[in-house]
Amino acid sequence: MPANVGQEIKIGLLGYGTVGSNVFRLLEEQSEEILQSSGAAISVSRILVRDAAAAHSGAPPELFTTDFGEILDDDEISIIVELIGGIDPAYEYISAALEKGKAVVTANKQLISQQGSYLFELSRRRQTQIKFEASVAGAIPVIRVIRESMAAAGIESIHGIVNGTTNFILTEMTRTGAEYEKALDRARELGYAEADPTEDVEGLDAAAKMAILASIAFHSTVGLDDVDCEGIGEIGSLDIEYARELGYTIKLLGVARLYGDRVNVRVYPALLESGHPLSTVGGAQNAVFIQGSAIDEIMLSGPGAGGMETASAVVSDIVSIVSRRTPGFLEYPLAYKQLDFFPAEEVETTFYLRLEVEDEPGVLAAIANIFGEHRVSIESVLQKGRGRHAELVMIFHPVKEKSFYNALARVAELPVVKATPHPLRVESNGHG
Ligand SMILES: NC(=O)c1ccc[n+]([C@@H]2O[C@H](COP(=O)([O-])OP(=O)(O)OC[C@H]3O[C@@H](n4cnc5c(N)ncnc54)[C@H](OP(=O)(O)O)[C@@H]3O)[C@@H](O)[C@H]2O)c1
Repeated sequence: MPANVGQEIKIGLLGYGTVGSNVFRLLEEQSEEILQSSGAAISVSRILVRDAAAAHSGAPPELFTTDFGEILDDDEISIIVELIGGIDPAYEYISAALEKGKAVVTANKQLISQQGSYLFELSRRRQTQIKFEASVAGAIPVIRVIRESMAAAGIESIHGIVNGTTNFILTEMTRTGAEYEKALDRARELGYAEADPTEDVEGLDAAAKMAILASIAFHSTVGLDDVDCEGIGEIGSLDIEYARELGYTIKLLGVARLYGDRVNVRVYPALLESGHPLSTVGGAQNAVFIQGSAIDEIMLSGPGAGGMETASAVVSDIVSIVSRRTPGFLEYPLAYKQLDFFPAEEVETTFYLRLEVEDEPGVLAAIANIFGEHRVSIESVLQKGRGRHAELVMIFHPVKEKSFYNALARVAELPVVKATPHPLRVESNGHG
């Protein structure tokens, strides 16, 4: 029987938008199930909004307040659920709540990826808990699995499709042959992309999530600024087509990997071999593929966003806090190491390259010659005629990124090369 039987737990909810209102609803609708699993009656007793007079459907008007101090100073409120988003004032509110010894649940990936290590340390010092399952991959319990079920898994790498918008766009381009802009319009129409999709399409949203996953998996501080990211704006329908011909699918991947005792975390569009477990994750789905010395491979997948899915992850964090009121070892140092970073230019990568060139004799030899001088070796070449120009589609043997980019810079200067080359990385089946 849970330790909290008969206990009443009061929640202070900050923000009553898409996720906040669904959290309120779930706590009401699922109260009996929550009571059975946690042993406690959990209810929202105050809700922070910007305008208390505005219409807020679903909750009694007397719960709403615009004064955070009222919630902070209410000693009956033991858990603060932050669903405002952004850094200010969420950071200030969460810090104050932890400082007071209240537990915190948040879905705020920006905040955790930028201020996580400070907040983890504060919660440890104040002997309380901060949980943030909903900040990565929506309803997929990836943080819990990594922290609790994989504590001894020896995680070596995580590959994630952690942004639904870009996965939808790339899936749409693959399905219909559409160019990027058209697929983005379709994503907007269906509500998968915001009016300003910059955070998603440039890879920043995925970078924040990968920073959080890497911190948890490798127990080391990885902030948003430590993650290099590239977006999907340069992917053309021809890349999708050639990738398919070669047996690959293009996905925006987050890759976090240990190199000895150094960490490298990046986000980039990549060609995935068709047999790779992530290659079939389509539409707005999310998935996280984890490899470790003791577990081989595990993949988790599911809906990555949506008000109700995210709310369900938030409620599961609340239940988990209530079910374990005393911080156990799992609450302690989330990121207790300070591992160094492994430089991207030293990473060995397989590259794909599409080059638009003059269709004349000797071009391939000139290009191969430059790559050869940099010890970059070509594995295969496809040649496609395109009017006056030709297109060379090349796959390279794994090579240090520095060598590849040095060679490519020289190739790009050749007069026969007609457009700026945009290489893509290739991830082979499970061992990319
Ligand atoms: N929606 C999803 O699918 C999803 C998925 C994963 C994670 N998340 C995360 O969940 C969090 C909430 O997202 P959401 O989609 O629910 O956003 P949202 O619909 O924009 O809701 C945010 C709410 O917070 C309120 N708010 C903003 N600043 C405030 C302040 N200073 N004081 C009081 N209230 C304030 C806003 O009020 P106004 O209405 O007055 O602006 C709004 O109602 C974010 O961190 C987001 O990244 C969301």
